[in-house]
Amino acid sequence: MSRRVAILLSGGGSNMVALVRSMTGDHPARPVLVASNDPAAGGLTRAQELGVATAAVDHRPFRGDRAAFEDALHEKLIAARPDILCLAGFMRILTPGFIARWEGRMLNIHPSLLPKYRGLNTHARAIAAGDTVAGCTVHEVTAELDDGPIRGQATVPVRSDDTAQSLAARVLTAEHRLYPAVLARFAAGDATPVTLG
Ligand code: GAR
Repeated sequence: MSRRVAILLSGGGSNMVALVRSMTGDHPARPVLVASNDPAAGGLTRAQELGVATAAVDHRPFRGDRAAFEDALHEKLIAARPDILCLAGFMRILTPGFIARWEGRMLNIHPSLLPKYRGLNTHARAIAAGDTVAGCTVHEVTAELDDGPIRGQATVPVRSDDTAQSLAARVLTAEHRLYPAVLARFAAGDATPVTLG
């Protein structure tokens, strides 16, 4: 029986599109919901165009009460009965309580070669450090930010004339290859990390 996948996003959702498009044929999973903390997120429209159910829980009315926001989000999620939760450009920090509900079933993509550059501005930091290789990581989500068992990494070169924007674009292309590859293995119960060059 195929695994049910919910995807959380905050922005344009290009990783979500790559994930949804990958889940066809003999892939072990299918998308059941795309949800966002931003009702205006471009990714919600793109999900609808792909025929995937969507939900939005605006985080702003919950200001100061992260747990209440997460409870509302959790309600939407459990209604879709997902087996796996994929964070794909979801830009809200999750509380340990939410993470505990999904631990072992939740993946995140981060635009750096973890453990390097947790948090934001990863590409500018890689360039400032003089790195010649950058990339992205898919990991299981645990209570520590941008931590948890690494399920896959993809590397790209850093060019001498790169800006944060040009590097971000190259890494994003690698993200679109890495995340579907990791999800396919994860959904099949294969813990072997994916390594892409
Ligand atoms: C991606 O680069 C993803 O790695 C990053 O946000 C972007 C979302 O793009 N995520 C993080 O920085 C999480 N800390 P997308 O909406 O086009 O998939």
